[in-house]
This record gives sequence, structure tokens and C-alpha cells, in this order.
Amino acid sequence: MPNRPTIYVTRRIPEVGLLQVRRVCEVWLWEGELPPPKGVILQEVADCDGLLCLLTDPIDAEVIGAGKRLRVISQFAVGVDNIDLAAATARGIPVGHTPGVLTEATADLAFALLTAAARRLPEGIEKVRAGKWRTWEPLGLLGAAVWEATVGIVGLGRIGTAVARRARGFGMRVLYYDRTRKPDLEAELGLEYVEMDDLLARADFVTLHCPLTPQTHHLIGEEALRRMKPKAVLVNTARGPVVETNALVQALKEGWIAAAALDVTDPEPLPPDHPLLELPNCIVVPHIGSATVAARDRMAVMAAENLLAGLRGERLPYCANPEVYGGG
Ligand code: NAP
Ligand code: GLV
Repeated sequence: MPNRPTIYVTRRIPEVGLLQVRRVCEVWLWEGELPPPKGVILQEVADCDGLLCLLTDPIDAEVIGAGKRLRVISQFAVGVDNIDLAAATARGIPVGHTPGVLTEATADLAFALLTAAARRLPEGIEKVRAGKWRTWEPLGLLGAAVWEATVGIVGLGRIGTAVARRARGFGMRVLYYDRTRKPDLEAELGLEYVEMDDLLARADFVTLHCPLTPQTHHLIGEEALRRMKPKAVLVNTARGPVVETNALVQALKEGWIAAAALDVTDPEPLPPDHPLLELPNCIVVPHIGSATVAARDRMAVMAAENLLAGLRGERLPYCANPEVYGGG
């Protein structure tokens, strides 16, 4: 690249990725712990050749329109629901993302949440910390068995498949629903394809792994929650708005389902006085699906590689809007 392009990076990411970008670019880095306000992003993209952003940044048509010189957007995440892909494509801007390198970390977290909710780990930890552990109790903190239970996976993509492999290791019967049936995976892993209503009615654990799109927004609302078994557990490591929060609060309060374990919420973050945080049968962790050192380092490198490819005018190695190149 003859001239050093200017890049706006909306938060500090692992150094291994930033170093790659700094070698060839002028980097403007938002140093705040919290995301930059949209007004700041609008100002900064106006003079940038590239944008390296996070899932917490609203990269909508206004931001994309403000980036008159923008040649590439590189997201440090696999989900791109915060980015107006159609607006980027219309401007000929490729959008990069980070699939694959966070799959196993996120599947580990989904399974950890599933097990923690089944066996009521937070309640047990709380009991010990509060000095209320007085004896071994034959009827205390009884939970649900994971071994040989039935799990329903919504969205059998990279992460959903990685969860299916874990579930098979726990002797579980695995049902899945996806907009696309996956016969090869069914045969390889011994999975059963079912319609969504059937999955909800039969699963002891329902775990969500679809992207947030207009089709999946509020996929799990009152109707879906009422279809689930009263002993069922809902696990969400996809995106908060896939679940209708008010309906979930009511379901947990009134016992339509037994428990929920959430890595993602709507809104995100939840305010400290949110009703979900007062429920003993609800586990919430702060969107840490990909939060291992290894996964975040690999995401940073991938985000840098996407960004630099876009600046060189090359096809992005991991592009979320391949239609920008015409003909896919
Ligand atoms: P992926 O490989 O693209 O898998 C998504 C799956 O969902 C695909 O099989 C897709 O079907 C299916 N799907 C799409 N729309 C659907 C619909 N309307 N109904 C049912 N299934 C549908 O993506 P991934 O890498 O597994 O990631 C999945 C999502 O997890 C991301 O989009 C992100 O939101 C979330 N995520 C969260 C964390 C976290 O930290 N909690 C970390 C990583 C990812 P097709 O095969 O037809 O496309
Ligand atoms: C995290 O949520 C991601 O989409 O990578």
C-alpha cells in the first residue's frame, strides 16, 4: 500500500491483531472501556479508509454513509446483526467477520451454562457463600439430569454442531431445527431433524445457535415458551433479541419452564434492577461466549487479515456480504 491508510478501531482488541494493522496503517483507537458513542463513530469514520468494529457498535446506514472513504469494515465477532450489510453492499464495501475460531469456546460456554442450570450451580455456590451449608441434604438442591436427556438445538451451524458433539458425549438424544436440513451431520452425529414446535415440546434443554435476523427476532416468545416442558431449560448464547425478554420473565416466574441460562440478553447489558436478575432459576453471564485467550487472539488476527485484504482491494478471507463481489 503506497500511502498509510487510516483506520478507526472502536475498542482495544488483543495486541496480536492491532500490531498487524499498525505495521501498515495509521490507527485511531478508541481507548474507552465502554463503546464509543454513535456521534463519535460518525465523526471518526468520515476520514477513515477502514473500520475495525465490535458487535456493540451500531454500524447502520447513517454510519456507512458518513464513511465517504470507507473501503472495508472488519468486525471483531462472527455475528454481524449490528451492521447494515445491505447498506455496505450498496456502497461496495465488504464486511469481514470472524467465523470458526470462536466456535469451540462458545460451544463450551453453552454447555457449561446448560449444565450449571440443570444442576443449579449458582444456587449451590450462593448457599455455601451465605454460610447456609449445614449438612448433606437428601432433598436439597435437586436438579435435572444431563446424561441421556434430550437437547434441542436451534440452528445447526458451526456452534450448534459443536454443541451437538458435546451433547452426544453426554449420551444425549439430539434434536435440531434449522432453516436448512443437514443430512450429512444427521448421519455422522446421530441427530434427529424436527420442526420447531416438535423440538420445543420434546426437548429437556433448548439451546439457541441461530443468528439474529428478522426471521429469528423473538423466535422464542410466549407461544414457544408455553410449548416447552415445565421441566425444560432454555440456553441462549446466540443473541438476546432471539428471545422475548418479558415473556421469558413470566415463564420463569410462573413455571412454564424450569430455568434459563443466558450469555446474551435484550437489552444488553441488563440494568442491575432487571427482573431476570432477581430470579433464582435464571443464570446470566455477560456475553462471554468467545472469551478465551486463544479465541480472542485468533479473532484479532482474523479481523486484521480481513481489514488489510480489504485495504489492498483483495477479496476478504472471511466476508459476511460476499454478494458485494457480484456473483457471490
Ligand atoms: P453459523 O455457522 O452461520 O450457524 C447459524 C445456523 O443458524 C446456520 O445453520 C443457519 O442455517 C441457521 N439459521 C439461520 N437462520 C435461521 C432460522 N431463521 N431458523 C433456523 N435456523 C437458522 O453461525 P455460528 O458461527 O454457529 O454462530 C451463530 C450465532 O451465534 C452468531 O450469529 C452469533 O449471533 C452467535 N454467537 C454468539 C457468541 C457469544 O459470545 N455468545 C459467540 C459467537 C457467536 P443455514 O445453514 O441455512 O445458514
Ligand atoms: C459474539 O457474540 C460473536 O458474534 O462473535
